[in-house]
Amino acid sequence: MYILGISDSHESHACLLKDGKLISCIAEERLNRIKGYVGYPKLAIEKVLKITKIRSNDIDHIVVASYNAGIFQLFLKPTCSWTPKDWVDQHNNYWKPKLLKNKRLSPLDDFNFNKKKISNIRNNPYFEFIKKTSGKKFNYNKFSSILQSVRKETVIKHLKVTKDKVSFIKHETCHQYYGYFSQVNFKNKKSIVLTLEGGGDESSATISEFKQNSYQEIYKTNDAMFGRIYRYITLLLGMKPCQHEYKVMGLAPYSSEYHGIRSLKFFNSFHKIKGHKIYRNKKIKDVYETSKINLEGERFDGIAWGLQKSLEDFVLLWVNNIIKKFKCKNIVLSGGVAQNIKLIKFLNEKSNAKHVWAGPISGDGSLAIGACWAKLKTIKPKIKILGLNTIYLGSEFDQSQTENIIKQAQKKFKVVKNISNKKIAKWLSEGLIIARCNGKMEFGQRALGNRSILADPRNHSVLDKINQKIKFRDFWMPFTPTILNEDISKFIINKNKLFSPFMTMAFSTNKFNKNKIIAAVHPADQTTRPQMLRKEENKEYFDLIKEFKKLTGVGALLNTSYNLHGEAIVENPKQAYNTFLRSDLDILVIGKYAIIRKTNKRK
Ligand SMILES: [Fe+2]
Repeated sequence: MYILGISDSHESHACLLKDGKLISCIAEERLNRIKGYVGYPKLAIEKVLKITKIRSNDIDHIVVASYNAGIFQLFLKPTCSWTPKDWVDQHNNYWKPKLLKNKRLSPLDDFNFNKKKISNIRNNPYFEFIKKTSGKKFNYNKFSSILQSVRKETVIKHLKVTKDKVSFIKHETCHQYYGYFSQVNFKNKKSIVLTLEGGGDESSATISEFKQNSYQEIYKTNDAMFGRIYRYITLLLGMKPCQHEYKVMGLAPYSSEYHGIRSLKFFNSFHKIKGHKIYRNKKIKDVYETSKINLEGERFDGIAWGLQKSLEDFVLLWVNNIIKKFKCKNIVLSGGVAQNIKLIKFLNEKSNAKHVWAGPISGDGSLAIGACWAKLKTIKPKIKILGLNTIYLGSEFDQSQTENIIKQAQKKFKVVKNISNKKIAKWLSEGLIIARCNGKMEFGQRALGNRSILADPRNHSVLDKINQKIKFRDFWMPFTPTILNEDISKFIINKNKLFSPFMTMAFSTNKFNKNKIIAAVHPADQTTRPQMLRKEENKEYFDLIKEFKKLTGVGALLNTSYNLHGEAIVENPKQAYNTFLRSDLDILVIGKYAIIRKTNKRK
């Protein structure tokens, strides 16, 4: 049985499930090059079908994540196309008068304020919705239902399938199924799955219980505010909401109670927890405006620290109360807030849970996978779902694509054929910075070796070069390592022996060997977010690190995604080469070829 999953929320993507096995998944942003893209993932759908050699006739079911998908968000696309200033304008024109001055404004007014920012609205696959609602008075239920039928028609027309094949899965259900079945070394153990996010179809937090072949949502509330608080604090600190929340998290360890105590008190005032239930402070009507007033004059890093501390304390209490009430110590967190890797570290160390898991890309970037698993379990409750055994689910490239690029590269650079891992490891050990484009592309926001920039983790001096000349990254953000699983205990403290192959958890570093991976350690709190690599997951990449270990004694490399700042990670050899041209990278390895920058005097 083939199930095609589609998500048109931000980080839109498509995936294909064959019986219980996920066989392909690609985000639209990798193909259309618009980071964090929101909208119908036409290219991604076509790509997963091409990769798996499946025709649309072969698909048994098509599931679309989310009932509502934000009525005008699919046209305004703020999460991928707005600047921070655009968000502030929206606040001043729409949210502030609506929430604080009780003006009767609807999402249609918001759309009208902002529609001048949209170019080529007629090219939007859902344009039929604009035609059908034109001139009509806004009614949430009616507009919602029109949009859903337009989204369905779009799939039917695109794939030429019958309408009975297409169904929708509730947003929160997608997060819940994804969280549960993405557990590494999945054993189908009873688990409590919590979602925490800005907002789904019905709620911003849920509690569900998963047992062998059953699932039940036990609790939901729209009173959990942390997803929204993170969104608007990201904006208040001058960054892009729904994209740069991780930068606020990365800033937090630079501060302490000294600068953050007043911010902490403010963030603590948003909620109360009684047992497993969350209650919002109803006096706070608008997150952005209230935060602006209360945090004026507070230091930027103190705000980030206070928010992280408040979140950690809040979720710790919630999780411990839930464990007590539902008598289950396997906890899974899903939804946007679960992408906070420091929170997952904190819960694994401090909560009463035996294990706290968050899947990779546990925000909206994985909704389609959850939708497929939910649909399959509804049709065949006893079927075995194989979980997320690999993240190398994307495009692969063939020899002809590589050779075209190599011909171009030979005119400008030195090109070496049949490059060995031994040679690449030697270059790395000499301090060169190398991009690697090889094999199947990783799904999601993390590069796990196949679309990565690699460097010597012992060498602190590579940081400035990667930051300024290659990534133009934010100076406070740390890099991450890939560590051979057999060497993991040398570098990190991992009392519960957690296996983290997708860079979803932070760990404290071992003080004796920290200097050997110092370039991939957070400079302020000395934590690291490793990809733990076993041979069976990526043999070629594993062998490369083995060669590096033979030379240096260190079974680890600094690994960061291969993209320039603000761009999506590269997908194919052409993009890899174009990015190389616009950067100051020393070497680009594509498959078995190495393209060496001639200005690199060392080679
Ligand atoms: Fe979500």
